[in-house]
Amino acid sequence: MAKREFKWPKGFLWGSATASHQVEGGNVNNWSVWELQTAKQRAKSAKRLFGTLPIWPEISDLATNPDNYVSGKAVDHYRRYKEDFDVIEKLGLNSFRFSIEWSRIEPDEGAWDVAAIEHYRAYIKDLRRRGIEPVLTLYHWTVPLWFSEKGGFEKAKNIAYFERFAQKIIREFHGDLHYIVTINEPDTVCSMGYIMLEHPPGTFSLPKAAAVYYNLLRAHKRVYTFAKAFDKKLIVGFSKSYSYAVAGDDRLLSRLMVKLDNAFRDDMIIRFVGKKTDFLGVQFYFTDQHHGWELVHGNKQISDMGWDRQPQNLEHVLKRLAWCKKPLIVTETGLADQHDNWRKEWIEQTIASVHNALEAGVDVRGYLYWSLLDNFEWAYGRWPAFGLIGVDYEHGLKRTIRPSALYYAAVVRKSACITKITQR
Ligand code: BGC
Repeated sequence: MAKREFKWPKGFLWGSATASHQVEGGNVNNWSVWELQTAKQRAKSAKRLFGTLPIWPEISDLATNPDNYVSGKAVDHYRRYKEDFDVIEKLGLNSFRFSIEWSRIEPDEGAWDVAAIEHYRAYIKDLRRRGIEPVLTLYHWTVPLWFSEKGGFEKAKNIAYFERFAQKIIREFHGDLHYIVTINEPDTVCSMGYIMLEHPPGTFSLPKAAAVYYNLLRAHKRVYTFAKAFDKKLIVGFSKSYSYAVAGDDRLLSRLMVKLDNAFRDDMIIRFVGKKTDFLGVQFYFTDQHHGWELVHGNKQISDMGWDRQPQNLEHVLKRLAWCKKPLIVTETGLADQHDNWRKEWIEQTIASVHNALEAGVDVRGYLYWSLLDNFEWAYGRWPAFGLIGVDYEHGLKRTIRPSALYYAAVVRKSACITKITQR
């Protein structure tokens, strides 16, 4: 263990992130329909899927209850956002990433909901008033039902609907905005929706997965072009998940697989987007070890969800992405940790990674922890706890700031000058 001195660039975004469907409650969209269709089945498979996790005895009641898989009220952030923003302010974070729920803004095709627009206007203005930079996501996996019924992003001609929604949002809110994330993790939308079948539409199809990926990237490019022409001060990018791909042994095949992984999962996408992005949104959760043809996740140290915990590897991801010569913003990183056992270490090591990358000359502009609040974790439902703020579902969704959040706040406070962090 050695102490290192860290200096942070001025204007660095220190924040946290959420997504509308995971926190707001009361949404009616492609996901809310899917939840009702699949909840019973998810509850039935819970023991098989999660039964070997150390946390199983604590979560088994919830995980085997179909209600767990229905977002319902989520954490009622749509109504309680001011209370949640109070915490952001208290923690001293200077930015906050959230998504706008398209199904609220345009519940019926072509009909704008004025009350929803005014809600988000007040929401964004409230962030601004508190000196918190809004980082707005346009698509975080949920779409209005009329859009999914038309085939969603499977059809190229439907991109125009998303573009119209994006234009509306940009016209309405651009005065209070700098940062826009167009698309959240197009890679996950395709793998989970069309290959693993854990997300809607849950139809196995490689051609559809490829079409959706292609259309989401084209949607990003079209929104980028519009946004920059409309207001060149807007800073527009897209977020993708980036794992640290590493050879698990010395074999040539293992090393070759790492190269292919990086080339096809990341570099090809970044090249396709080309100049039409102002930054890359980096979302880091995993380390993928290639053992020949096999892909393994480390399982010595795991989160509540069984995902391996190697936060220090964010550094490799950031350094590798330097080739694209684009600013990077860590738009998500975090872990499920109900008892806050490892979150502090995750925050410490991922922040150390960011700074090591900065010191090596990589242009990293921000770090947004996932998530501000415990929330509805998609196909897993309510039990995974990702939040800096814990939410008690048994007691009126009571919010409690976790100790790791206070640690994060202390790092941010000191970052104005010098922060000392213990480096592994
Ligand atoms: C998604 C979040 C999700 C997180 C943890 C990211 O891929 O953008 O919505 O909650 O991973 O699974």
